[in-house]
Amino acid sequence: MPFVEKFVIHGGKRLEGEIEISGAKNAAVAILPATLLAKGVFTIENVPDIRDISSMLQILEAMGAVVSYISKSAINIDTRNIKSATVPYELTKNLRASYYLLGALLGMYNIARVAMPGGCNFGGVRPIDLHLKGFSALGAMISTDGGVVEAKAHKLIGASVFFDKVSVGATINVILAAVKARGTTIIENAAREPHIVDLANFLNLMGANIKGAGTDIIKIEGVSELHGCDYSIIPDQIEAGTYMVAAAATKGDLLIKNVIPKHLDPISAKLRECGCIVDEYDDAVRVTATGRLHGCNIKTLPHPGFPTDMQPQFTTLLALSEGTSIVSDSVWDNRFRYVDQLTRMGAQIQIEGKAAIVQGVPSFKGAPVKADDLRAGAAMIIAGLCAKGTTEIEDIIHIDRGYEDVVRKLTAVGAQIARVDFPQSEALHTQKRA
Ligand code: EPZ
Repeated sequence: MPFVEKFVIHGGKRLEGEIEISGAKNAAVAILPATLLAKGVFTIENVPDIRDISSMLQILEAMGAVVSYISKSAINIDTRNIKSATVPYELTKNLRASYYLLGALLGMYNIARVAMPGGCNFGGVRPIDLHLKGFSALGAMISTDGGVVEAKAHKLIGASVFFDKVSVGATINVILAAVKARGTTIIENAAREPHIVDLANFLNLMGANIKGAGTDIIKIEGVSELHGCDYSIIPDQIEAGTYMVAAAATKGDLLIKNVIPKHLDPISAKLRECGCIVDEYDDAVRVTATGRLHGCNIKTLPHPGFPTDMQPQFTTLLALSEGTSIVSDSVWDNRFRYVDQLTRMGAQIQIEGKAAIVQGVPSFKGAPVKADDLRAGAAMIIAGLCAKGTTEIEDIIHIDRGYEDVVRKLTAVGAQIARVDFPQSEALHTQKRA
């Protein structure tokens, strides 16, 4: 009988102690395909041990890269014998970030064939039109056939690319395609997320010439050759933010280590607004909450605004805080699906278009729920940690995509959470009871 896994949480424990943050998923999923831009040997440290990364490494291996682990978080990648610019569909379908293979392969071989990516879809459409528009500006011809995108060019030529909407993925993909193009590429209205700066730093270490990453104008002078290098990925801003909110929601006291406090500014500011104490150190933050917090309003925006990837976790905190809060997501159209699950635990949240009106309640009651996507899953964990009684979270495969060792990390600071096998035939219970 096939088994699947769920998390079982006995809530009501105050989180107290220290948590070490892993490397940033959204930087790593860009940096790993960027290794394809050189025939060389790389040592990459602070690589998170999560499912999205094993999926990406599997893809690189299928293309001929040799990957070996030096430790749990450090790998060697040898790209000297890459054989193919085509990425097998079976390997891309669960990984949204597989679209970065388009930019990297196009940049290296002037041709890329990649099946349309999978990953979190929040129940809505996740277009890549801006990515393709950027490739076209550099001179690539784009075609799609049977769900496979092909981008090819005789020679990529630097160009001006203006994005009418800020897109992390399109900014990264155009950088990847442009680093070896002839001449200068200028990206206007570029995304400014920390992982874009991290990717640019990595590429510059490989020999690229990228300036302005972290601002909304990025200038790339094409170079003819790139080479291998050693690099350490930045800490995961969203993993850190998730534990900060977990500390606040459980009225706890957590020292969150291996972070860049500046990257956490929008989250720290909102936690302080709700009544939390947030202390910053060189590479750590401490979040302390002594009582029930009060609500606040949140609008998600591209960096340095409040990150959409923290919206479900923060909304969960607000659902337990005093008063009414309004949360609007201006980045994604449909990122409130998880609210149905929170409602099962007693939350009072009403969705009005792209906003959630949250009426704080004093407590949640444990219930069987599911992780609709990665950050929705993180929100369910926070809800379960605060709830009275037992919460069981199904579909945790989404959580494993982006949170390293979540059970170990939370158990070490006082949570009662376990990963439990159960028969797949029982997995529909959540829906049946919904
Ligand atoms: C990245 O997705 C992250 N994923 C997402 O994190 C994150 O939510 C998002 O950026 C916003 O911060 C990775 O880095 C792998 P976008 P991405 O392109 O690049 C629209 C997580 O939980 N758009 O910045 O796909 C789009 O519909 C994940 O870790 C277009 O219209 O996001 C959205 O409304 C989930 N056309 C907005 O732009 C395009 O061609 C921002 O999307 C591309 C995007």
